[in-house]
Amino acid sequence: MASEGCQIFNPAEKVAKISHCSSMEQYKQMYEKSIKEPEAFWGEIAKDFYFEEAVTGKFVDYNFDTTNGKIFIRWLAGAKTNICYNCLDRHVAAGKGDQVAFYWVGNDPADAEEVTYADLLKEVCRLANYLKSKGVAKGDKVAIYMPMIKELVVAMLAVARIGAVHSIVFGGYSAESLSDRMLDAEARVLITADAVWRGAKLIHLKEIADDAIKICKEKEQNVRLNLVVQHMKNVTAPQSVTNGAANGNPAKKTHFDDKGNYKVTWNPEVDVWWHDALAYMSTECPPLWMDTEDPLFMLYTSGSTGKPKGVLHTIGGYMLYSATTFKYSFDYQPNDVYFCTADIGWITGHSYVTYGPLLNNATSVLFEGVPTYPHTGRFWEIIEKYKVSKFYTAPTAIRTLMKFGDDPVKKYDLSSLSVLGSVGEPINPEAWLWYYKVVGDSNVSIVDTFWQTETGGHVITPLPGATPCKPGSACFPFFGVDVALLDEEGAEIKGEGEGYLVFRRPWPGIMRTVYGNHERFETTYFKKFPGFYCTGDGARRDKDGYIWVTGRIDDMLNVSGHLLSTAQVESAMVEHSSVAESAVVARPHTVKGECLYCFVTLAEGCEFSDKLTAELKNKVRGRIGPFATPDFIQLAPGLPKTRSGKIMRRVLRKIAVGDRDFGDISTLADPSIVEVLFQHRPKEGKV
Ligand code: WTA
Repeated sequence: MASEGCQIFNPAEKVAKISHCSSMEQYKQMYEKSIKEPEAFWGEIAKDFYFEEAVTGKFVDYNFDTTNGKIFIRWLAGAKTNICYNCLDRHVAAGKGDQVAFYWVGNDPADAEEVTYADLLKEVCRLANYLKSKGVAKGDKVAIYMPMIKELVVAMLAVARIGAVHSIVFGGYSAESLSDRMLDAEARVLITADAVWRGAKLIHLKEIADDAIKICKEKEQNVRLNLVVQHMKNVTAPQSVTNGAANGNPAKKTHFDDKGNYKVTWNPEVDVWWHDALAYMSTECPPLWMDTEDPLFMLYTSGSTGKPKGVLHTIGGYMLYSATTFKYSFDYQPNDVYFCTADIGWITGHSYVTYGPLLNNATSVLFEGVPTYPHTGRFWEIIEKYKVSKFYTAPTAIRTLMKFGDDPVKKYDLSSLSVLGSVGEPINPEAWLWYYKVVGDSNVSIVDTFWQTETGGHVITPLPGATPCKPGSACFPFFGVDVALLDEEGAEIKGEGEGYLVFRRPWPGIMRTVYGNHERFETTYFKKFPGFYCTGDGARRDKDGYIWVTGRIDDMLNVSGHLLSTAQVESAMVEHSSVAESAVVARPHTVKGECLYCFVTLAEGCEFSDKLTAELKNKVRGRIGPFATPDFIQLAPGLPKTRSGKIMRRVLRKIAVGDRDFGDISTLADPSIVEVLFQHRPKEGKV
């Protein structure tokens, strides 16, 4: 594998032939210009968008050095625009109203719908008018907790159209996580749906939203409007429910009436059906012209302290960056059909399901379901049906599907594909090669895109018409991104070497602050290395200058592409009365990339049992969400701590995989605890 990992794969000829950037020479020229003359480079790109008023101040201005005062980043000072106008009105005005914006594909293959640019614009205006009529104004925060349906895109764009700020919470989060985010964002308006099928599982979104609203109320934040899409009425239920078989879904009894309609509990004080609200609204609504540095959205991401951070993006820079990365990283061409499998609740969905594609007038697939339901060829079936040419997914999905072998892929005609993207975690060369050879029939370009919620868009990525790829490497920086590797002391590593991955200057899409806590923004990203934005990831540069992201350096885990902090999970564990202390580490997992391995020290007189581990798993599911459920929980009579009390996590990581090669443990207050912990490893923990 290692030798194959070093093999070089040239861009597919069919891509390079028509590419926006078709050679390394062209890439280098453009890159150089973006660094040396950012104003000229981005100014040219900005001409493709509509600005109601032009830039009056500095095109870009910033401070990245905490020793020089406050950190700030500003792009396109003084200009006014509206991102919704640029996503929709601009294209409709150019005669593209009838073009399909989204092929919506439901959880059940029987459910599908086409949505044009003109349809979207009308629906967005109706919702924008309704929200305005309810007093939602510029700067107000609107929380969104929805499945992958067109109304989610409509909600984002309507909020942006009237200058409000969206805060989307992934539909897999628990009521507590949702309320935490609503409280932090001070959101008093929520948009949700009754429920959604995810595979054969029913997710009761409204019920969860109701609980979150209750929690907000207890903390004296009253939600005044809960707008609910009636989604269940329009979708096909899994057979296990419709045929009422003995092994039928238990939801059937509790959540459906005799006629098979989904039941919701209703609170007339705040609940309003989306279809009632929009019924009499006008399909025209002028956009509000916003300052380019006004906030567009916040999106919560895990922080190493456990409390999620509201990453805040502003309008102008994010618009330029999401659009430009979409255009170049996927080499988007007018006749493409593009399919990104990410949920809009994550940043990938924000930038590469909604904003990037719509800003480029693209036609995309919007998929509600999961890759393995009702069969493991679901992605491939969709690609064949819609003749998808550009496909973007996560390594964890690739590894899941790899397990079923090549047959489910080979059943379908995937010859329309030309670019395959990967995001969320380092992709192992084995998965890269399977993606390339089996899915792409060795006639595609692969783009392993490295980026973060904080970066707004791709920051290190191959360009599919230009970059010769090495499987497992995200290759080279995107335009405007000035990469450096630093050692622990902050000295720059030039040439070959490994260190902290940092960026020396702002690109347009970088976050502007942590909502409500600018100091945390400065401390998290800029304090460690004054003058640099610190990603928190490590990376290696090889002799050819390729960048290999090696993963998080901080106390962060990446489970199936979802970032979690160890502190977040630990604090959920210690909420249980039997747990005195807990330490959580990542353990490699063949499908998820990493999974959670938890050590728990019990309170006096408490016993470690299956019942306790089940309760702890439930605790984490309730506190964070099902995707954070630990795979392993082991008893820890003590934890390996230094004399100053710091848990030595690298030792725990070794124990988690059953590796006795601990390195130097002489700085531990009690080195004997390591062997004790080893003895307590659960049986399944063996590798
Ligand atoms: C990891 C997701 C290696 C990385 C867009 C980063 C990756 C974190 C890659 C951000 C990649 C994402 N190669 N690692 N191609 N893409 N990561 O905020 O650790 O959910 O810091 O944004 O995912 O996760 P986030």
